[in-house]
Amino acid sequence: MLKNDQLDQWDRDNFFHPSTHLAQHARGESPNRVIKTASGVHIEDRDGTKLLDAFAGLYCVNVGYGRQEIAEAIADQARELAYYHSYVGHGTEASITLSKMILDRAPSNMSKVYFGLGGSDANETNVKLIWYYNNILGRPEKKKIISRWRGYHGSGLVTGSLTGLELFHKKFDLPLAQVVHTDAPYYFRREDQNQTEEQFVAHCVAELEALIEREGADTIAAFIGEPVLGTGGIVPPPAGYWEAIQAVLKKHDILLVVDEVVTGFGRLGTMFGSDHYGLEADIITIAKGLTSAYAPLSGSIVSDKVWKVLEQGTDENGPIGHGWTYSAHPIGAAAGVANLKLIDELNLVENAGSVGAYLNQSMKDALGEHAHVGDIRGEGMLCAVEFVKDRDSRTFFDAADKIGPQISAKLLEQDRVIARAMPQGDILGFAPPFCLTREEADTVVAATARAVKAVLG
Ligand SMILES: Cc1ncc(COP(=O)(O)O)c(C=O)c1O
Repeated sequence: MLKNDQLDQWDRDNFFHPSTHLAQHARGESPNRVIKTASGVHIEDRDGTKLLDAFAGLYCVNVGYGRQEIAEAIADQARELAYYHSYVGHGTEASITLSKMILDRAPSNMSKVYFGLGGSDANETNVKLIWYYNNILGRPEKKKIISRWRGYHGSGLVTGSLTGLELFHKKFDLPLAQVVHTDAPYYFRREDQNQTEEQFVAHCVAELEALIEREGADTIAAFIGEPVLGTGGIVPPPAGYWEAIQAVLKKHDILLVVDEVVTGFGRLGTMFGSDHYGLEADIITIAKGLTSAYAPLSGSIVSDKVWKVLEQGTDENGPIGHGWTYSAHPIGAAAGVANLKLIDELNLVENAGSVGAYLNQSMKDALGEHAHVGDIRGEGMLCAVEFVKDRDSRTFFDAADKIGPQISAKLLEQDRVIARAMPQGDILGFAPPFCLTREEADTVVAATARAVKAVLG
């Protein structure tokens, strides 16, 4: 085996890590943790330190770590057929079976699934399909995509533009001109603190209407949103938000892309976030929970309405000029089939709903009265604690104080629990695997209370 010190140096010398302070890491100023193995909700590093992963990797290892059923399915698939492409009508037993399993679970207006590798490329596909759709319908001007500030949809060129977080735009010449942003449905951070939730929804709707008016409805093709804002702060929408937004989109003939990369396959306690909030998507993005990250796989589920136009397009123009070498990769598909079976067999969607509600309530009981906790919110197996300098005036800490990162570091150091310091604001995020038990939820909450006390008193 490699010596630990060697691995550390190789990492600093050779490895370009995503979403990392590159210079500090290369200089050895930031921690370097090498993960070796994992089981259930725990991961273990090369030194044998066990950590409770209350963020399921990047909210993706939904069934928990170490599931041998999925590992076996991947191994069997690799032995039988590691790869064949899916161009010009080719498929494998795994990819065809998985497409049926997805459509069986998806809202009833959905028609077909295109497979990619990750959430970013799936949303990239969605934008291309939307542009194609409007070209086929003879509306070449109707191309812009509306996204929300604080939305997260990936970090490619178009998808990084859709993402409404400053870090993902700065110095990258993003967002591109075809993307425009509207307000985040973030009630806690509303500008006018006197607004009720209902008034705030009316404000979000008015902002959207004004944007459409400014740009011209005939230039806007689609609106993209996560059912619950994820990386932007784990923010469930205020009551009535989605109903009101959908009415505006319908009125202006604007397609709705529901990005279910985080919420798909059970995280909210329902199979899809669309079921949870009554969303009628034209396209649904899936990734993460599709395979619980045992292998890379994503998908764009297209509705009957979009599919009909895509068919018309290929009748008029020939085969669709879109595809990746690894679209519907059999190993990813085999992982997906085994993963979805496991979710059903272990009743994990239900568990995400019930233990998730318990986690949220316990977090409120433990921290709801803390002088520097401004908001505790969540839905299903998603929870966030937002810190403030002053509760009464809702004053936020300076970003430079790094309160969120300090608390997450303390949590790791004191109790070996992983929660995520969300990138914009002092927000601690929790998105554990669906198999989390109530006892494990208790551990997470107690550890969080201790970390908050250590940093903020
Ligand atoms: C809602 C959402 N969409 C898209 C993505 C991008 O997925 P990926 O990182 O697999 O490209 C993410 C990633 O966190 C996400 O949370």
